[in-house]
Formats: sequence, C-alpha cells, structure tokens
Amino acid sequence: MNKSNQEVLIQFRNLTRKFGDFYAVKNINLEIKRGEIVGFLGPNGAGKSTAMKMMALLLDPTEGEIWIRGNGELQKLTRKNKDYLLDNLGFLIENPAFYGDLSPRTILNYFAKLKGYPKDKINDRIEDVLKFLGLEAWIDKKIKTFSKGMRQKIGIASAIIHDPDIIVLDEPQTGLDPKARKEVRDFILELKQMGKTIFLSSHLLYEISEVADRVAIIHQGRLIAFDTLDNLEAKTKKSIINFELLNTEDKNQKEFLEKTKSLVHPLTGIEKDLSWVKYNEDTGVFQMIFDGDPLNQLKILRVLIDNGFKVIEFSVPKAGLLEDLFIELTTPEVK
Ligand SMILES: Nc1ncnc2c1ncn2[C@@H]1O[C@H](COP(=O)(O)OP(=O)(O)OP(=O)(O)O)[C@@H](O)[C@H]1O
Ligand SMILES: [Mg+2]
Repeated sequence: MNKSNQEVLIQFRNLTRKFGDFYAVKNINLEIKRGEIVGFLGPNGAGKSTAMKMMALLLDPTEGEIWIRGNGELQKLTRKNKDYLLDNLGFLIENPAFYGDLSPRTILNYFAKLKGYPKDKINDRIEDVLKFLGLEAWIDKKIKTFSKGMRQKIGIASAIIHDPDIIVLDEPQTGLDPKARKEVRDFILELKQMGKTIFLSSHLLYEISEVADRVAIIHQGRLIAFDTLDNLEAKTKKSIINFELLNTEDKNQKEFLEKTKSLVHPLTGIEKDLSWVKYNEDTGVFQMIFDGDPLNQLKILRVLIDNGFKVIEFSVPKAGLLEDLFIELTTPEVK
C-alpha cells in the first residue's frame, strides 16, 4: 500500500457526547484513512447518528475532539474553522427531508452553492451526479412525486454534489428495498473507485460486510471493536456455514439435523458444547458454526456429500460472521 493510502483524514479523540447524565457516545477513538470505506455498525440507539452529527458540528462534543485533515495537516474541528474544514466533507445525516415542491436541480444547486462549488460549473455537476445515480430524467421533477428510494438517492446526491473527498453516510440504505440497497452499495463502491473516503453507518450487517474495508462496532456509545473483517474473524475464531439440500421435506428436517450434527461436529474445530446446526424453515437454509478454517470447511462439505446429502448450496457468508461477532461482543458474558 502506498503512503497516501495510510494518510489519516479523520480522527475521533476520546469523542464523548452526553444528553443530561446519559452518555450517547463515550470515549470513542477512531481514525479513517484516505481511500478506505469504514463501516460504522451498531444497533438502534448505539450512538452512530450522534457521532456523525458531531462530525458535521450539528452537535458539539461534551468532551473529546474531532480532527480533520485540511491543507495537508490534521486540525481540530471548531466553530471557527468548520466552514473551511467541512468543505471537503459531504454528509447524509439520518432521513433527509426536502421540500416536496422543489426539484433536484433547485435543491442540489442550493447545496453546491452553500459548499462553495464554482458557480459556472454547478449545472454540469448536477447533471453528472444525477446521471451517476440514474436519476437524470428526474432533474426538474418535483420531489413530492419521488419514491422513498429516489429521495434517498437525492440525499446521497446532496452529500456528494460539491465533490468532497470524504463522504459520511448515516444509514443510506435503511428503509430501501433489496434492489435499491444494492444500487446504493454499488454507488458506494464506485465512489471508492474514484478515490473517495467513506464513513458509512448501518445496522444492516450484510450491507456493511459487502463494502467496508474496516468495521467499527459501536454499542451503548462505546467502540467495542475496530478492525478489518478478516482480523475480526481471526479474533473470534468462528464462522458460519450456510447450506441447502435438494428436495428435503420439512417433516424430515429433524432427522436431517440429528444426522448432520453427529457427522459434522467432530470437524468444526469448536468444542462440542458450543457447536450447533440449525434449520430455518422460512428460508430452507441450514446453518452451522465452525472455526473458519478452510480445511475444515472442505472436510464438512465432503462428509455431507459422502453421506448422501444432496448439497446444492454451501457458503460462508461474511455477514454471518459479523452477525455472530456482533452478538458475541454485545452480549454480556455470563459467569
Ligand atoms: N437530542 C437528544 N436528546 C436526548 N437523547 C438523545 C438525543 N439524541 C440522541 N439521544 C439518545 O442517544 C442515544 C444514541 O442515539 P443515536 O441516534 O446516536 O443512535 P443511533 O446509533 O444512530 O441509532 P439508530 O440506529 O436508531 O439510528 C439514544 O439512546 C438516543 O435516545
Ligand atoms: Mg441513527
């Protein structure tokens, strides 16, 4: 990796925000490097939006600081320098609300001007951004005729209209259908291809696992993990396998489960007491836990097939791991 990829663009230093006596964000230290996508993952009420609002100075920290790179050096974000430091950032904070009678052109023109984008280039830029988001035909239509997914895309457009290097997206996929979620995921990856740095919050494990280079997990205001998915996986020494069988009728699942359990347990690399296989009746998918070792994964697949199981799907989804990890990290230890 070259040096510029290691350059820190944003730093939270002991970032803390209280509401009364309640800590919504507590002592968070976190850094975001140039060109990476950092996923900010946490359940409802974890403190994600509060932290992101402090980045935009929509809220002041109670303690701690946010440092942002401007003019080649990290600088503490304050009311005085915020206009200049935040020009290089674009925000989508929670659900954006736009006046329904306005068109994307009017709204984006306003945001571009606000952020100091060169006036003579604004019109071309608006057209480019809407094209990028697949909404060029809607440029002069009123927002009140837009679907939720289209409004969300206008929210993204307003975050990137001034072509910032750093893009902060708070739950850009919440409330969207699978197709729209995939589109947003693709935009995020394309923005990374363009060299942008992205900080993205979600409680959707899958969406984060598909795009993020590093994942910051926040729970009850505290940062409980911050690493690459691979390293987090190595730490937990656990993964999930999903598999499906051909033509298994629901009434036989119990039998299948019993047989599968006794065959695969010795190969999972997990203590017998902690090892499990489950069947989800809604999806028809079997799930089992193992230690993540690819050799064990192969042995498990082989033993299933050798014993006559007609395996038609067999995968180790990253989101499965993240879900497992998330539960492990956010569940207090029972002693
Ligand atoms: N203005 C406020 N006044 C009082 N409490 C607040 C305020 N804003 C947030 N909180 C509380 O701080 C905690 C964190 O809220 P926050 O909105 O940051 O969570 P979140 O991680 O974004 O959750 P979600 O996934 O639901 O969006 C919650 O318990 C919330 O009730
Ligand atoms: Mg939120």
